[in-house]
Amino acid sequence: MQTQSLNNINSTCSRQDCGIHAIPGDRHSCSRQDCGIHAIPGDIVTEKLSKSVITSDGVLHILSSIDLIIKSGESIAIVGESGSGKSTLISLLAGLDTPTSGLISLNGKSLTAMDEDGRAAMRNQLIGFVFQSFQLLQGLTALENVMLPLELSGDKNAKASATALLDRVGLSHRLSHTPQKLSGGEQQRVALARAFVTRPSILFADEPTGNLDSKTGACIVDLLFELNQENNTTLILVTHDQALAARCQRTIKLDAGRLVNQ
Ligand SMILES: Nc1ncnc2c1ncn2[C@@H]1O[C@H](COP(=O)(O)OP(=O)(O)O)[C@@H](O)[C@H]1O
Ligand SMILES: [Mg+2]
Repeated sequence: MQTQSLNNINSTCSRQDCGIHAIPGDRHSCSRQDCGIHAIPGDIVTEKLSKSVITSDGVLHILSSIDLIIKSGESIAIVGESGSGKSTLISLLAGLDTPTSGLISLNGKSLTAMDEDGRAAMRNQLIGFVFQSFQLLQGLTALENVMLPLELSGDKNAKASATALLDRVGLSHRLSHTPQKLSGGEQQRVALARAFVTRPSILFADEPTGNLDSKTGACIVDLLFELNQENNTTLILVTHDQALAARCQRTIKLDAGRLVNQ
């Protein structure tokens, strides 16, 4: 019976270039856009994901042949030395950057087959992203920065939701401050609130506690995991913080653009 069903699964997949489907029972590894059988909604799957850039010194291989499966609702820490490719990997997974080769599927759809508009729509629907450099809009107040993603999706309660979340990250006394009037740690908390406010299915954060003192960092980490548990949000965190990595279900390590364990 089982053999029959596995045969059926494998026989529906006709990709010529994919050795993965030949593995009996591996139903999680298919990023075929049209494959309703292998794609598990919410999973992030990469196959041979690589990113290279041309520099004045020649070709720089930033990421090489990354095969990764992240299950919906999982919490993952990405660790590795500075320059190992962590920020590049999460930018690719979030559709903010495009790979040189390889495949990424997100929620059962091939991100690598989409154009910029398609990736932007996917990001709006599913993804929250906290940049290492925050990337807050300088002309807007803290409250306006956090309201913005909700306003873009036509949410009538943008102000109330953004205010509540800024309160939750301890910034209710800074609502009308613009980023240049906020400390690095405060800007980081605004960036986290902006990423949380849409209740994304997948939250990427690049060093989310990097600028926070240990007490504020612990509160933010609690908030991240509350989101993970309340909403089954997938958490993908780049971190050097061992305490934060230890709270994740899994840690993966990059070394010179290659995955060394998972
Ligand atoms: N667009 C680019 N052009 C040239 N080099 C880049 C570019 N993006 C990243 N790099 C280089 O690739 C390496 C990995 O970068 P990054 O992903 O930011 O690493 P990490 O986040 O682990 O510190 C670094 O050496 C970085 O300087
Ligand atoms: Mg980085």
